[in-house]
Amino acid sequence: MNSSNSKSNSNLNPQSMLALTAIQKSYHQGDESICALKEINLNIPRGQFVALSGPSGSGKSTLLNICGLLDQQYQGSYELDGQRMTNNATLCTQVRREKLGFVFQHFNLVPVLTAYENVEYPLILNRFSSTDRKIKVSEILEKIGLKDHQHRRPDRLSGGQQQRVAIARALVNSPLLVIADEPTANLDTRTANQVIDLMQTLGQEHNTTFLIATHDHRMSSRCDQIIELQDGSLASPLLHDAPQGSMVQEILPHASTELRL
Ligand SMILES: Nc1ncnc2c1ncn2[C@@H]1O[C@H](COP(=O)(O)OP(=O)(O)O)[C@@H](O)[C@H]1O
Ligand SMILES: [Mg+2]
Repeated sequence: MNSSNSKSNSNLNPQSMLALTAIQKSYHQGDESICALKEINLNIPRGQFVALSGPSGSGKSTLLNICGLLDQQYQGSYELDGQRMTNNATLCTQVRREKLGFVFQHFNLVPVLTAYENVEYPLILNRFSSTDRKIKVSEILEKIGLKDHQHRRPDRLSGGQQQRVAIARALVNSPLLVIADEPTANLDTRTANQVIDLMQTLGQEHNTTFLIATHDHRMSSRCDQIIELQDGSLASPLLHDAPQGSMVQEILPHASTELRL
């Protein structure tokens, strides 16, 4: 069984929840090779709410797949909470189950399970006792305001309610890192704001780090940090704050025109 203590390793780099060093990823199709990520170096401290932005094809999903341990075919090093992630499938499954949570654009709840059962599912995988499961699931359903709907299946919940259930499912096991792919893209503004509030509130309670691929300004404007990908490379975060013609252009004379805001 898990406890929050057992999740924290003796850190090689105590500042960092997620440390990527020289990550490179290529896809091979026939004779062609597509370089989706080029020498990505990234450090994200524990508890940060981070947006990953960039145009379509810039490598966001590829990066999320690597950070979510869904893809182990890459070059470079990935440390999660000081633990080097290898391509050992057993280790990846265990870390994914115990330390990671996922939120998707289309909610991805299990259609035949109720809201309660969807949230309970990660706790069953992590072998929590039925008493502990009941306490944790009831508590988090109360927090997301869906206790009254706990016996409903996803098809009897609105999009916003489904996403709240998905967030509860992602966070019920107090993961170290939540990976989210466009979590507000299908929601109206009021619902999107509720969902962001919920992610932030629950994230703070659990001291969870969030890495959120998003095109949604409603989301990125509320993040601690925006990381921008461009053709598989990171654009400097400094560039976001730089007025036109600022020193940044002199400091980074080779930055492409598109990156100069
Ligand atoms: N399974 C795949 N096979 C071949 N090329 C891929 C595959 N997945 C992504 N790519 C390519 O890698 C690049 C980055 O894609 P992706 O990570 O999906 O970007 P984003 O999520 O920012 O749209 C694109 O050029 C895309 O066409
Ligand atoms: Mg994508």
